[in-house]
This record gives sequence, C-alpha cells and structure tokens, in this order.
Amino acid sequence: MPLPVLDVKNLVLWYRTRKGPVHAVDDISFALEAGQTIALVGESGSGKTSTANSILRLLPKNVLRYEGEVVFDGQDVMEFDNEEFRKVVRWRGISMVFQGAMNALNPTTRVGSQVAEPLIVHYDIDRREAADQAIEALGKVGLSGDIARRYPHELSGGMKQRVVIAMSLILKPKVVILDEPTSALDVMTQTNIINLLKDLKNTEHLSYIFITHDLGLASELADLVGIVYAGQLVEVGPAEGVFVRPKHPYTGKLLASVPRLRSEAAPDFIPGVPPDLTDPPPGCRFHLRCPVSFEKCGWSAPEFIEQVKLLQISEETKDKVPAIEAMKAKDTQTLLIKPVANGTIAEFAQRLTSFIAQDQETYRFLKSVESVQSKAKVVEVKLHEAMPPPLIGADWRASCWLLEAGGS
Ligand SMILES: Nc1ncnc2c1ncn2[C@@H]1O[C@H](COP(=O)(O)OP(=O)(O)OP(=O)(O)O)[C@@H](O)[C@H]1O
Ligand code: SF4
Ligand SMILES: [Mg+2]
Repeated sequence: MPLPVLDVKNLVLWYRTRKGPVHAVDDISFALEAGQTIALVGESGSGKTSTANSILRLLPKNVLRYEGEVVFDGQDVMEFDNEEFRKVVRWRGISMVFQGAMNALNPTTRVGSQVAEPLIVHYDIDRREAADQAIEALGKVGLSGDIARRYPHELSGGMKQRVVIAMSLILKPKVVILDEPTSALDVMTQTNIINLLKDLKNTEHLSYIFITHDLGLASELADLVGIVYAGQLVEVGPAEGVFVRPKHPYTGKLLASVPRLRSEAAPDFIPGVPPDLTDPPPGCRFHLRCPVSFEKCGWSAPEFIEQVKLLQISEETKDKVPAIEAMKAKDTQTLLIKPVANGTIAEFAQRLTSFIAQDQETYRFLKSVESVQSKAKVVEVKLHEAMPPPLIGADWRASCWLLEAGGS
C-alpha cells in the first residue's frame, strides 16, 4: 500500500470558553494518499473548519487542548517548532482555501499582487518574477492575465473564488484544504469550480481535503468520505461505500435528507439539534437523535428525565406514562422516581416496567433501562453504562455499537 501523503491520528482541539471547554475536534483520524480527495461532511458547528485549522496549526488564542499526530510526507509535523512548520508545511506543503476567503480579498490591492504575495513572503523572490508566476497561476484556474491588474470588486464571485484557488496553488503544495469553496456561489458557477478542481487535481497531482455540508458536491469530487458529527468522525471510508451503503445511522439520515428529483418520497429529516460541544453527550454522541439507539448507546439520568418530561407534556403520549410526582438524577446512571400517591410503590414499579417493555421500540431511550427497583418511597431506575463506540469495520469504519456483532 502506498504511504499516505497525510496521516492524521487522534487529532484533538478544544477551545476555552466561559461556558466550559468546547470539544471541537475530539480524536479525529484519517489518512489520505497522494492524488486522493477526502470530503469531510457534517452539519454546521460539527468541527470541520476546526479540524482543518488544527492540521495547519492555525490556532486561536483560546486553545485549551491541542494534540495528536499530523504525519505529512512521512514526518510528524506536530513535532516541528512554529518556524519550521511555517517554512515547510503551511502553504508550501499543505495550503488552504478558507471558508468565505473570496470575500476576504484585500479590496485595495490588485488581484495579481495578492496572488503573488505568498511567493514574496515564502521565497523572497523579486516582484517582477512573482508577478509572472501569479499570471501563470491565474491561467491555471482559467483566468486571463489581464485579471491580475483588476481589483477584487471588479470580479464576479466565481472569478474571485478562482483567484483564491490560484493563491492556494502558487507555492505548489501537495495537499490543498478547501473549506466550503463553493457555498456562496450559484449552481452553474459551483459546477464550473468543481470541474476546475477536478482538472487541477489531475494536472497538478493534488490531494484535497474538501469540506462541505453538501453531499451532492462531496460525491462529485471525493474518493473518500469522512462524516463529522459533534467533533468526531463517525464514518470514514471510500465514497462509493459510504454513499451507497452507509453504516452509521447518522450518515443514513443525512443521505435520506437530500431531496431527490423525480422521487415521490419526501426527504427525511433528522430530529433534534446537534449537541452542545461544551457538554457532549456521554456514550455515542448521536444517541439523542438516533432512530435505532439501544441499551449500549449511552443515555444519562438527566437526559432520561428530559425525555420522560417530553412524553408527559405531549397530547399523544401523556396518558401512557405512569403518573409521576417527581424525578431526580441520583448519579449519571441512576434516577429516582416518586409516583403520584395512588397504590403502592411496588404497583407503580410494575406499571413503569410494563410501560418500558411495551413502548421501547417507539421511544428508544426506554431501552437504556437496566433495572427498576422499588425502594421505601421511590422507585430507583438504573441505566446501562454509557460507552462511546470506537470506529468499527474492515472495509470502511463507522462508530456505532450496532456494528459490533460483525455487522460491518
Ligand atoms: N475560537 C473559538 N472559540 C470557541 N469556540 C469555537 C471557536 N471556533 C469554533 N468554535 C466552536 O467550535 C465548534 C466547531 O466549529 P467549526 O467552525 O469548526 O464548525 P464547522 O463544522 O466548520 O461549522 P460550519 O459548517 O458552520 O462552518 C462550534 O461549536 C464553534 O462554535
Ligand atoms: S451507537 Fe449506533 S445505534 Fe447507538 S446511538 Fe450511536 S449511532 Fe445510534
Ligand atoms: Mg466551517
């Protein structure tokens, strides 16, 4: 097997905030061979940009934890000091088209000078030569030489995006990170840019990390796909596998949420919202939204109580739930329930047990109950231990406990 050009192992990036640590990148690993493209796909706030920034060591001041291995061209560049990293890796080895970069071009500087800038900074070559190379780079992205003399406001969105792509290529990197490079463009211009990226990949022998929330675009360009959820890679593997036979329930839901032309079926949606990364859920981070969660997936007592309360207030379900006066979490996996005075505690425990047995296929959180025990004045409910699933599978991997029994 060829050595990967980029091998990211157990990457972690947490930010310090007043609310607590934001677990933006939490143990992300993937490898990219020369000439391959990996699409990192995920909802807003899932940690895609943070992953890219941590590969390029572009860190804000409020970093709390930053660790892992980034092996580029056979060297663990996390070991490099900042100067060496800047000289060898950033822009020369791995470059990036930033999210929204086309709107961040300097309005007062001609485009040619902006494209030439990295050459002057990194190689200290003279301005005339840099200007010639900038024109050459603009040519590679399909822009004529006279564009170099224009200011950004004289260009269309598509042309500006080509300019920032030219900037990312000027130092001839091996890997280019493209962070949502087409999300601000109309569909035709998007297609043109994607076609340009495909051509450049072949002519310049590039590897891409293509960041997007658009599964259609990802399928256009990607050899590999990494599905990012709540700071973690929950499924990673060849595009033809992940897109056709997704293993992770979240990937399945994402694919089903894409509207299809000529299909009678309404697009699916994913209930709920992604978790707060200052307090990621225990166990599998997707369990609060997962349609097939079960015993091992990791409900905590406070989450369980929230779900019971939701059932209690819904017109459809309120009569199903045994009458409860109060609930509280004893610890993360145990809750105490005080019934409304109406019979004995043992009778209430019986009603609760039947409710759990009958309705757990519909209300999946009920599957997390390990035991129900009568105490003097309350019923004690113990939940199964929460355990985060590792990436499981041979041909490609996903982090879901359902795959544990060889279902990979
Ligand atoms: N400097 C920072 N300080 C604190 N939190 C941050 C910082 N930068 C990002 N975050 C948080 O980290 C999480 C991941 O953000 P990130 O920008 O990486 O997500 P993303 O997947 O790129 O989202 P989008 O699709 O909207 O660009 C979010 O919860 C975000 O609010
Ligand atoms: S481990 Fe699998 S089944 Fe369980 S919540 Fe996560 S995705 Fe769903
Ligand atoms: Mg982003």
